[in-house]
Amino acid sequence: MLYQTLADRLQALISEGVYPVGSALPGVRRLSGSHGVSVSTVVSAARELERRGILEARPRSGYYVLPPAAQRAMPRARPRSRRPQPVTGQEQLLQIIQSVQDPAIVNFGTAVPDPDYMPAAVIEKAFRRVWREQRRRCIGYAFPPGTPELRTQIARHLAGLQCAVGPDQVLITNSCQESIAIALKLLTRPGDTVLLESPTYYGLLQVVEALGLKALELPSDPLEGISLGALELALERWPVTACVLVPNFSNPLGVCLSDARKQAILQLLARHRVPLVEDDIYGDLPFSGPRPRPIKSWDREGLVYYCSSSSKTLAAGLRVGWLVPGAEQHRAEYLQFVNTVCVGTPAQLALAEVLEKGSYGRMMREASARHAHSVARMVERVSQLFPAETRVSRPAGGFVLWIELPGKVDTGQLIGPALEAGVSFAPGHLFSATGKFSNCLRLNCAVRWDARVERALEALARLLRV
Ligand SMILES: Cc1ncc(COP(=O)(O)O)c(C=O)c1O
Repeated sequence: MLYQTLADRLQALISEGVYPVGSALPGVRRLSGSHGVSVSTVVSAARELERRGILEARPRSGYYVLPPAAQRAMPRARPRSRRPQPVTGQEQLLQIIQSVQDPAIVNFGTAVPDPDYMPAAVIEKAFRRVWREQRRRCIGYAFPPGTPELRTQIARHLAGLQCAVGPDQVLITNSCQESIAIALKLLTRPGDTVLLESPTYYGLLQVVEALGLKALELPSDPLEGISLGALELALERWPVTACVLVPNFSNPLGVCLSDARKQAILQLLARHRVPLVEDDIYGDLPFSGPRPRPIKSWDREGLVYYCSSSSKTLAAGLRVGWLVPGAEQHRAEYLQFVNTVCVGTPAQLALAEVLEKGSYGRMMREASARHAHSVARMVERVSQLFPAETRVSRPAGGFVLWIELPGKVDTGQLIGPALEAGVSFAPGHLFSATGKFSNCLRLNCAVRWDARVERALEALARLLRV
């Protein structure tokens, strides 16, 4: 490939010191002229050098040469699955999740920030107030679609993301997992095929298994997200019923799709009349730049079923999420009612109160800055402690890190000993239904860094080195 040849050439120039550490590469147009290739070849070559861990892209500034100590190659995408496959064996996950609840264990395993990193005082104040002022309502049910106050706040939040959604089009759910389950129940029947990115959030695989669906895994690149070519091929080749994606700061890779990719994906799906279940749970947590747009914001045909929740931003314990089910609003409300009757009233009212008070944007900026810092620290310690040749993702938001280990290590075998050593992580095989990623793991970085956490990471590194 031409871009790889150019990447090799640029890498050689960097190691010869033509472009020293810390310097910016010339602009893409200049490189295109001087190397006699197209601008898109230069961009692909620069991205390749990012994947190799040699360059870093700085928004609106260009590509910079990283110092050797900071150079880390990124985990590799895996080949696409050959055909849709039923998902099985997800039950084992609950055991891992349950063990993580043990306070004696340092939690690198579940994607949840340490409670000290969440705005607990703001939430507590909201609960007190709604209980004081609306006690009679708090004691009763708040049947689907949920309280008008919260639906109005969610509609306002979505308006800020350029999604034209009214309060009547919002369904309040028992968090994002239920939103996704309802969306897939609306869209599929057992045996249908659903497209997922790979690696994917294991909760999606669980829903796919529980509904008796087949998963077709599309390779996702840690820089650019799912392969558009693989998506197009899959849509042409298989009778796909729905596609589920996390376009903003996916879990576990932390990729944020560019606006151009988001639009291209929507166009492809629209051409094949395949609906998208969009999970935007991490969207409010960018490390830099503005809050990215959801794909829903370009949706004019009601193809996107938008799902999110307050689990990653305010409190997972609230168990409040939302779904925009488009034309299926009535059936979605009924499914929510059948699932769990409704969502707890105090939590709905308190969340509406938090969103209305206006400090949400500031809280998210503070949380994102903290997560960016935690992720950077984890990257640094992993580079120092984990085996040489370990590959590390470079998330653009959220708070998890995806790690690929060298050699034949099977992280699924190491979780037992790790828990015994007082530390958890999420083994890589959980993120695929087809046995991929057994030499990978995901780390939650939003932990309070102290001597105990440091010891836990060292213990984990020792386990991984054998
Ligand atoms: C991508 C993604 N979607 C959904 C969920 C589940 O969210 P909730 O707690 O709101 O059900 C998670 C939790 O880890 C997640 O990472």
